[in-house]
Amino acid sequence: MAFPTETVYGLGADATNPAALQKIFAVKQRPADHPLIVHVSALEELDNWAVDIQPDALLLAKVFWPGPLTLIFKKNPNVSNLLTGNQATIALRIPNHPTALALLRSFGKGIAAPSANRFGRISPTTAAAVAEELGAGVDLILEGGQCEVGVESTIIDVSGATPTLLRPGMITVAAVEAVLRKKISAPHAASPRVSGSHVSHYAPRTPTRLVKFEAISQAIAALSPADFPIVVLTREYLGRALLGVEFITMPVDAQHYAHDLYATLRACDQKNLRRILIEAVPELESWDAIRDRLQRATAGG
Ligand code: TXA
Ligand code: MG
Repeated sequence: MAFPTETVYGLGADATNPAALQKIFAVKQRPADHPLIVHVSALEELDNWAVDIQPDALLLAKVFWPGPLTLIFKKNPNVSNLLTGNQATIALRIPNHPTALALLRSFGKGIAAPSANRFGRISPTTAAAVAEELGAGVDLILEGGQCEVGVESTIIDVSGATPTLLRPGMITVAAVEAVLRKKISAPHAASPRVSGSHVSHYAPRTPTRLVKFEAISQAIAALSPADFPIVVLTREYLGRALLGVEFITMPVDAQHYAHDLYATLRACDQKNLRRILIEAVPELESWDAIRDRLQRATAGG
């Protein structure tokens, strides 16, 4: 069953039921060693899944949950290896979406849920996008409107001595450090166990490239006739009409941009274009999650 969260839609299964968990991997075509996030509805459930919970971890959970933050803890020994990809840690979060919370409360147990897309593809931010991704692979989709945040949760590993960022999200490192009143570890070059950290992830089917604003005209001029039609995503209205070129104006602020990003890429993918050009986004921390997803979306194109 798929359900909405504030970040992206998840493909959910009873986190205590191995057969149900195996179905997630089958439907997503996801490698078995990629661990899942367990979604819970209350802090009191933490001890069912995690042990050795550090004060920093508890503080982050209290401040940011429910919300777009996933915390990695040392796992409780009774937790299934299917959830953790045979690692000693478990990912947990309380999502901030009324439908997700109602589902979790009425179910009464943890729900394991990866993003409801096939492996390597763009995460769905609407119920229609879930249907498009998983088709008959999903028996039920709870309609919860378009996801508010629009990109996947920030992941912080709190299982070791120093909290470490594993995946940037819209809760920034600065926000986490302000709460903890100390620095956390910067992202590793590639934490191989975070599936989103594979280079080409969150990718549209259409060849997609990042281009600096000043270089857009040049990039279009350098294409050959067979490369058209194309779409160009900028944060500034370019007001030009060019045959075979559609301009889409994206929001200028990071929150709205994140909210729109996956839905826009998905819509572009359906237009049978030859190329997607995306204006590079600001080198500011508020844009870290977006820059990260854009770099992965364009890694193959
Ligand atoms: O916003 C989100 O986090 C969404 C919604 C549905 O909650 N979920 C999501 O799940 O993005 P998924 O499976 O697509 O990405 C979860 C990431 C994966 O990259 C996985 O490798 C990582 O979390 N992860 C899970 N357990 C982990 C662990 N024990 N250690 C390190 N990384 C872990
Ligand atoms: Mg995913």
